[in-house]
Amino acid sequence: MIHKTSPEVGGMGHPLRRKEDSRFIQGKGNYVDDVHLPGMVYGQMVRSPYAHARLKTVNTEKAKKLPGVLAIITGEDLAKANLAWMPTLSHDKQMVLATGKVLFQSQEVAFVIAEDRYTAADAAELVEVEYEELPVLVDPQKAMDPGAPVLREDREQKNNHIFHWEVGNRKATDDVFQKAPVKASVNAFFQRCHPAPLETCGCVADFNKATGKLTVYMTSQAPHAHRTVFALVGGIPEQNIRVISPDIGGGFGNKVPVYPGYVCAIVASLTLGVPVKWIETRSENLQSTGFARDYHMTAEIAADRDGKMQALRVKTLADHGAFNAAAQPTKFPAGLFSICTGSYDYPQAFCEVDGVYTNKAPGGIAYRCSFRVTEAAYLIERVVDVLALELKMDPAELRRKNFIPPDRFPYESSLGWTYDSGNYEAAMKLALDKIGYAELRKEQAEKRKKGELMGIGISSFTEIVGAGPAHTFDILGIKMFDSCEIRIHPTGKAITRMGTKSQGQGHETTYAQIVAQELGIPANDVTVEEGDTDTAPYGLGTYASRSTPTSGAATAIAARKIRDKAKKIAAYMLECSENDLEWEPGKFYVKGAPSKAKTIQEIAFAAYTNMPPGMEPGLEAVDYYDPPNLTFPFGTYACVVDIDKGTGEVKVRRFVAVDDCGNIINPMIVEGQIHGGLTEGLAIAFMQQIDYDESGNVQGGSFQDYLLPTAVETPHWETDKTCTPSPHHPFGAKGVGESPNVGSPAAFVNAVVDALSHLGVKHIDMPIAPWKVWNILKEKGVIS
Ligand code: CDP
Repeated sequence: MIHKTSPEVGGMGHPLRRKEDSRFIQGKGNYVDDVHLPGMVYGQMVRSPYAHARLKTVNTEKAKKLPGVLAIITGEDLAKANLAWMPTLSHDKQMVLATGKVLFQSQEVAFVIAEDRYTAADAAELVEVEYEELPVLVDPQKAMDPGAPVLREDREQKNNHIFHWEVGNRKATDDVFQKAPVKASVNAFFQRCHPAPLETCGCVADFNKATGKLTVYMTSQAPHAHRTVFALVGGIPEQNIRVISPDIGGGFGNKVPVYPGYVCAIVASLTLGVPVKWIETRSENLQSTGFARDYHMTAEIAADRDGKMQALRVKTLADHGAFNAAAQPTKFPAGLFSICTGSYDYPQAFCEVDGVYTNKAPGGIAYRCSFRVTEAAYLIERVVDVLALELKMDPAELRRKNFIPPDRFPYESSLGWTYDSGNYEAAMKLALDKIGYAELRKEQAEKRKKGELMGIGISSFTEIVGAGPAHTFDILGIKMFDSCEIRIHPTGKAITRMGTKSQGQGHETTYAQIVAQELGIPANDVTVEEGDTDTAPYGLGTYASRSTPTSGAATAIAARKIRDKAKKIAAYMLECSENDLEWEPGKFYVKGAPSKAKTIQEIAFAAYTNMPPGMEPGLEAVDYYDPPNLTFPFGTYACVVDIDKGTGEVKVRRFVAVDDCGNIINPMIVEGQIHGGLTEGLAIAFMQQIDYDESGNVQGGSFQDYLLPTAVETPHWETDKTCTPSPHHPFGAKGVGESPNVGSPAAFVNAVVDALSHLGVKHIDMPIAPWKVWNILKEKGVIS
């Protein structure tokens, strides 16, 4: 049972205002570009205008002569130090600066260092690079053709195929399909998109020649892992590297990989002995850093005539760009895409994915997504709607019929996951009741008679977040656990440090609330510090909604270790046995005599001034938490759209989001997370795509083409929740940060297709821009 703490203490469930916001709204945040060190100089990348070209010469002479230029690093220079290539997070390698040839537009070719940013930018334009253009591959299907030009000449394998990965029982699934009376299928492309965080990537590398210590201030979602990579790749002793992630203006997975800019800034600082700052421009961020999605997917469902699903078959071509730099755990080349059975009970399933190289920027990062889960949730929620059309069945009814029932948890999916807990029907019922589903269907029927276009979309997604457990999950061999250290000061105040790193999620508030819940120390008396590898315990960082399931759990366990010690001290102070003591948040008291009590603050003081004989002084604990399983948050999103026949514009009339992330630490923060993620989902569904023309030129490489939704485009979000605690998490919580981005694209697309389904429309690929809808209306003879 979770004790309810007072608002002053502010434990679990209190909508505490975000502590960090006080500095943010005053403009007093401390981001990487706010770091100014004495003697600091600036780096600027020279990038390739071509998507595929032989690099003939890189001439830096003219650029070097520009007053203020200090040095220029080329791929050849790095090759001499064996640093021209670096490992990626997916056991591939990636060029730091190009040698031999370039493989995507905007690839890093040289790094100019100058006394100021403007001189560095001017000098970068003076670097003369001679290219010889090569044939470009932007279509992953064509890249798989046997005669296709081989992009990666460095590999032994002489084709563009990266990996084949499959899971499930192919034969048993095929057998079901052979006999099934009803089949439905969809080819869905989840377009390449980009997290586009408000703050781009950057760093300040500061090598101190006197101490031999390298400090890197950087936009890192995983500071410890980056420190270890720098040590392993650069050969610098790990104790001499300190990574500091200051405030981060949004990450969404974009700040997980190691980028060439970081490496070049470090090399430059090691060489010149001065701090070197490198900050990307917006276009550099969109064009060269970790993209997301780019999955060409086919899903088929085999079902009975009454709509009971029997099997799911999924085939996917994954476009990974020039280097396989996808951020994902080692054992899962397609991430956790095998969650694609979703919220449904499939007796059989089979899923296969092929990864392929093309002339595009590398990435495949987990953009607000637990490693390809967004693609999986979108696919299953789309194909279920296609089956409903095939069966002429209501999509809500079809879902209800096939949901994994609450009494089947923990549930073993046919693709190998053990879902911890769920109650899908309850979430769907709440969402449909709130939106008035039955009434809307009646309204739709009336509107159709009048030739008006209105659609209702449902998405009942299941998520999988919180990697580890360590026995299955690692990144570059480092096991996926996470950590927390708590120190209670003599006056009963505390400082806690974690292996995770907030990028705007509000960790300084919510972790403090966990301590408040477990120890009764007011959340405002608890300082939360993340992102400094010299002080925080080792951890794998924040992405894939893993902070609450891992470091959140570690915080509770570390607090409970402290409480155990506090109990001993309280027993000594109250001259009673530990067994006679009861706990309520904030104090121990003697059973049956509540006035005989010691508060946590009194106990903390005693831990330094009056500890029991033989007891080690102090009151602190650390916990490295290896979760026994992932957590499986879920929800149902329901959306109503109206379509303007004249322009093809889709207007989102209403959007109801019911989420279930188990027990909630801070309902206001969770609601904020959901608003943000839904807005990103809206953008993906209707506005955003990083596309390429035939020559590999990036379309969508600036905010002129890659559209961000403003308040004008964003509808009013209506949120609600159900609560199905995780049975294995110390306080029953599940992650939530990515749910809205994972669950919403299908709700939007399902609504648009629903509006047009009577015209024979089965699927429309995102982004659903007005011109696409307008063309369909024209093609179907709705408008002339
Ligand atoms: O890893 P990340 O912080 O991005 O994701 P998360 O663990 O889902 O947490 C996002 C924010 O929501 C954090 O501030 C969490 O503490 C908060 N949260 C919560 O208050 N209750 C939950 N059950 C889950 C998350």
